[in-house]
Amino acid sequence: MIGLPRLRVHGVSKAFPYDGGSLLTLDGVSFDVAPEEFVAIIGPSGCGKSTLLEIICGLQSADAGWIEIDGRRAESPGKQVAYMPQADLLFPWRRTLDNIILPQIVQGVPKKEAEAKARKWLPLFGLEDFERAYPGQLSGGMRQRAALLRTFLTERDIVALDEPFGALDSQTRRRLQEWLAGLHGELGRTILLVTHDVEEAILLADRVIVLSSRPARVVEEIEVALPRPRSPLASAFVELKGRILGSLDRTGTMG
Ligand SMILES: Nc1ncnc2c1ncn2[C@@H]1O[C@H](COP(=O)(O)OP(=O)(O)OP(=O)(O)O)[C@@H](O)[C@H]1O
Ligand SMILES: [Mg+2]
Repeated sequence: MIGLPRLRVHGVSKAFPYDGGSLLTLDGVSFDVAPEEFVAIIGPSGCGKSTLLEIICGLQSADAGWIEIDGRRAESPGKQVAYMPQADLLFPWRRTLDNIILPQIVQGVPKKEAEAKARKWLPLFGLEDFERAYPGQLSGGMRQRAALLRTFLTERDIVALDEPFGALDSQTRRRLQEWLAGLHGELGRTILLVTHDVEEAILLADRVIVLSSRPARVVEEIEVALPRPRSPLASAFVELKGRILGSLDRTGTMG
C-alpha cells in the first residue's frame, strides 16, 4: 500500500465472559484498508465479524490492539465511521423518514434539509410510500433498506456495513449492490463490508479478507483484480470464488 492506510486494525483481540469462563472471539486480527478501498470481510457464522466491526466503530473496546484512522490511534472512531449494525436498530416510535434522518439531526443538519435529502433516495430504496410508517409496519427487507439509507446519509468517509443485504430478495439485493458499487466509485468512500456471500464479496470488493472460525484470525487476504462491472459468469470470477470457498472450507463451516 502506498501512503497511509485510511483504516488500520492493529492486533485486535477480544474475549467475552461466558459461563464462568471466557470466550476468545478475536485473536490478533490485523489488516489495513487504503483510502477509497472497498474491503469485504467474510468468515464462518459466530467467528467474530460483528464484534470486529463494533470495535472498529468504537462500540466495543478491544482487550489488546487498537484501531488507527489516517495514521492516528482512534480514541472514538464512531465519529469517523458510519456504521450499519447487523440488527437494523430502527427506533420503533419514530416513523421511517425520522429514523433515516436521525444521524443528520444529531449532526446538526436542519430537519427540512435532512428530509429533502433523504426523500431523494426513497424511491431507489423502495421506501417512497412508507416514509410515515413505523418500523413495526415495515417488512424485514424494508427495515434493512431504511437502515442502509440512514447509514449513507451520515456522510462519513469510512462506511462499515454488517451484512446489509441479508434479508433482501435477489432482485432488490442486486439493485442495492449496484448502487453501493456506484457510491464507492463516484463518491470515493472507504467501505468495509461484512458478508456471508462470497459472490457478493467478489462482485463488489477490491479485496476480500477471510477470517477463521472463532477465535477469528485473518486466514487470507485476496485481491479481486477483475475489471468492473463484474460478471459472476466470467471464468476469472468463478475461479476466484472457488479459491475463497476453499479458504473458508479449510477454516470451518460457513454460517
Ligand atoms: N456482547 C457479547 N457478550 C458475550 N458474547 C458475545 C457478545 N457479542 C458476541 N459474543 C460472542 O462472540 C462470538 C462472535 O460473535 P459475533 O456476533 O461477532 O459473530 P459473527 O461472526 O458476526 O456471526 P454471524 O455471522 O452469525 O453474524 C459469538 O460466540 C458470540 O456468542
Ligand atoms: Mg454478525
